[in-house]
Amino acid sequence: MRIRKFRKGDERQCSAILLKSFHWYFELKGSRWLRKKFSAACIAGEAKNGISLVAVDDDDIVGYCHAGISGYGAAYLSTIGISPGARHRGTGSRLLGELETRCRKRGVRKLWLMVTHINTEAIEFYRRNGYSREGLVRDLTLEGAHEIIMSKHF
Ligand SMILES: CC(C)(COP(=O)(O)OP(=O)(O)OC[C@H]1O[C@@H](n2cnc3c(N)ncnc32)[C@H](O)[C@@H]1OP(=O)(O)O)[C@@H](O)C(=O)NCCC(=O)NCCS
Repeated sequence: MRIRKFRKGDERQCSAILLKSFHWYFELKGSRWLRKKFSAACIAGEAKNGISLVAVDDDDIVGYCHAGISGYGAAYLSTIGISPGARHRGTGSRLLGELETRCRKRGVRKLWLMVTHINTEAIEFYRRNGYSREGLVRDLTLEGAHEIIMSKHF
């Protein structure tokens, strides 16, 4: 498995991974906005701002992540998703680690993210990767879905 920069043409595979990864969210009422955000067109668009990376296994994309970089030394991890069949092998941690390295090289002091309170696997994943909880924003992306703010200070 290797990590490389997102390239034009990767967006369809990345979109398919994200749509599978967040299937639980799409069952909630009002979740259509996320389908749009995970469309191939949006993924190709966000790659023009910040850092987009993919994890590749035998020429197949198995993971995707993106972070937007601010002008004040912080970056926001907007998305990370690993293909269900490729999880629990350290792929997510490697992808996140490479994103952190590239952020640091660009002067980022702090990487932060939001994770839905019921997404316990992802909360544990971030905790194991050195992220701490900073707060909670209630009913943010959907009524009844509360976003936990987590961050890592380099
Ligand atoms: C969260 C995610 C990116 C982790 O990817 P991954 O490749 O499995 O990550 P790693 O193999 O590096 O896992 C590191 C640790 O995270 C935690 N973890 C990951 N998935 C877990 C799960 N389903 N249940 C419990 N802990 C889990 C564990 O501590 C795991 O260590 P372990 O595999 O030794 O138990 C992946 O599960 C995913 O794509 N989830 C769906 C999308 C998502 O929720 N993204 C984050 C939204 S904010």
